[in-house]
Amino acid sequence: MELKIFKNPEEIGEACGKLYADYINSNPRCVLGLATGATPLPTYKCLSRMCGEGKVSFKDVSTFNLDEYCDIPKTHKNSFYTFMCENLFSKTDINMDNVDFLDGNADPQEESERYAKAILDKGGIDIQLLGIGRNGHIAFNEPADSFSDEAYKVKLTDSTIEANSIYFDDIPMPRYAVTMGIGSIMRAKKIILIATGKSKAGAVLDMTEGPVTPRCPASILQQHSDAVIFLDEDAASLLR
Ligand code: PGA
Repeated sequence: MELKIFKNPEEIGEACGKLYADYINSNPRCVLGLATGATPLPTYKCLSRMCGEGKVSFKDVSTFNLDEYCDIPKTHKNSFYTFMCENLFSKTDINMDNVDFLDGNADPQEESERYAKAILDKGGIDIQLLGIGRNGHIAFNEPADSFSDEAYKVKLTDSTIEANSIYFDDIPMPRYAVTMGIGSIMRAKKIILIATGKSKAGAVLDMTEGPVTPRCPASILQQHSDAVIFLDEDAASLLR
């Protein structure tokens, strides 16, 4: 895994946004794996701006998102689908027919099979964007006894509920989500993980310098042949 350290989240957003724009410009029909949360926002801001300036077009790009909550409608204001529409899709020229999402209200097994086939039919994910949880999770793959493979329904941990419930002001945060599995993430040709802030420093240390273990799901990225980790100085502060 390759580590790149930047001053702050804004610098990472600019660097990652440009990396994506360059990639899309040379592969206009590429398949992107996308992530939600606070971490990718500066990257989405950069890409939205560049699209507005005519420097990149999402017209032929296909996307798959990592995860979605169960038990809320797709269009609820806190769904990850709404998050993506508000922070990226509505600000680009993407064709919404090329946007695919896990359905948190479908039968989990059937949905997992549908998603795996849809990704395969598009030729696989070219670049997968990831954040990391304070407990080392990637997507909603929480610390566990073994690594998952394809998408599945997961019970969220207290750490994740504590981190994300700040976004839920009208209803209690869902306790379950559907998430791409570790196997589906690892099959992406390239992986970009962004971590910013002091609260991620421990997870970043475990991911990069600890053993590969499902107790720190992100540690599996040590075994990916093209994983690039973008860190700000705070997130990198515990590295040796
Ligand atoms: P965050 O979430 O970007 O909101 O910190 C990242 C994650 O939990 O994977």
